Amino acid sequence: MKELYALGIGIGTKNKKGEWLEVYYPAPLLNVSEEISAAINEHVGSGTNELNTEKLDSLAAGLKAAGAGEQAAIVASFIHTEGVPVVCALESDESPADVPGGYLKLHLLSHRLVKPHGTNLDGLFGVLANVAWTNEGAIAIDELSERKLMARNQGRQLIVNSIDKFPRMTDYVVPGGIRIGDASRVRLGAYLGEGTTVMHEGFVNFNAGTEGPNMIEGRISAGVFVGAGSDLGGGSSAMGTLSGGGNIVISVGKECLVGANAGIGIALGDRCTVEAGLYITAGTKVQMIDDAGTIATKVKASELNGKSGLLFRRNSLTGAVECLTNKSAVELNDELHAHN
Ligand SMILES: CC(C)(COP(=O)(O)OP(=O)(O)OC[C@H]1O[C@@H](n2cnc3c(N)ncnc32)[C@H](O)[C@@H]1OP(=O)(O)O)[C@@H](O)C(=O)NCCC(=O)NCCS
Repeated sequence: MKELYALGIGIGTKNKKGEWLEVYYPAPLLNVSEEISAAINEHVGSGTNELNTEKLDSLAAGLKAAGAGEQAAIVASFIHTEGVPVVCALESDESPADVPGGYLKLHLLSHRLVKPHGTNLDGLFGVLANVAWTNEGAIAIDELSERKLMARNQGRQLIVNSIDKFPRMTDYVVPGGIRIGDASRVRLGAYLGEGTTVMHEGFVNFNAGTEGPNMIEGRISAGVFVGAGSDLGGGSSAMGTLSGGGNIVISVGKECLVGANAGIGIALGDRCTVEAGLYITAGTKVQMIDDAGTIATKVKASELNGKSGLLFRRNSLTGAVECLTNKSAVELNDELHAHN
């Protein structure tokens, strides 16, 4: 059998109509070995397949023999499960076809197996279900009132944390060496590199994230990736491409500082600084200031897309947006990262 692109063995939730709401994969695999791929093909097959309990022993034995001890143990744990055990085996990096396939790709990102833009997520929004994320797990929205009543009758209260297509990352994956002030601010599918701190104001969307180490107190929209040693200040915004017509894929290079309440609609190269409160969009007209302090040229910010070593500020006397050579590139405060 052809080696699988990705494999997830997990446990999920369905609504009363039998439609998938979500799947949790404890240990997904990328670029699966020939032996493991062959074992999956023999016992389950490719695509999405629910596991019936009769198959558990043979699949666990096959995976163990193929060297996938962790995955074999996951299968063995399903013996008395009340959830829906599922195997999702993707032959290639195609766009997600169903909820289990979509969740597998989101897990690959948060497990750091692929970087943002490293896996095909075309059409993901249409595939995922809008779900009520509660203290009792994922619940279909049209089953909520019944479940709330049931909980009350049993002396409990059902707490709804969000209504969304994406759950909190930390309910599925907690990668090593990170801190997150408020778990609800990081969606499943975020990629947080080792040494990343996301403070309470920070936000990281799916298919977006940080190389690590980083200090994130601002918003990282879908598709944005931030390089090592960069700092996004409180309330800052790295613009996404999902809405608003922007088509530049925003990224931030290494050792940049995007100041508090600043924003970027262009990519930054390495060692760039954006003054606190300054929002640069692709169309912003920028005065280039040479090292002697005189205005050299005027350019559109999009022409500076991805360039390194720049300092952007709004001249507090004239109001013009200026771009200078960045003489003091940011250094992350080591103390803040030593305890992740
Ligand atoms: C843009 C920024 C980096 C400039 O800092 P800096 O390089 O230390 O600048 P300085 O304050 O030393 O100023 C250097 C010179 O530029 C001038 N200057 C600075 N900002 C200016 C502005 N907006 N308009 C006009 N002149 C300005 C200063 O007056 C000074 O001129 P001088 O040498 O003739 O006196 C800083 O203002 C900033 O916004 N930092 C972001 C901090 C932040 O938000 N961190 C995240 C926290 S959550």
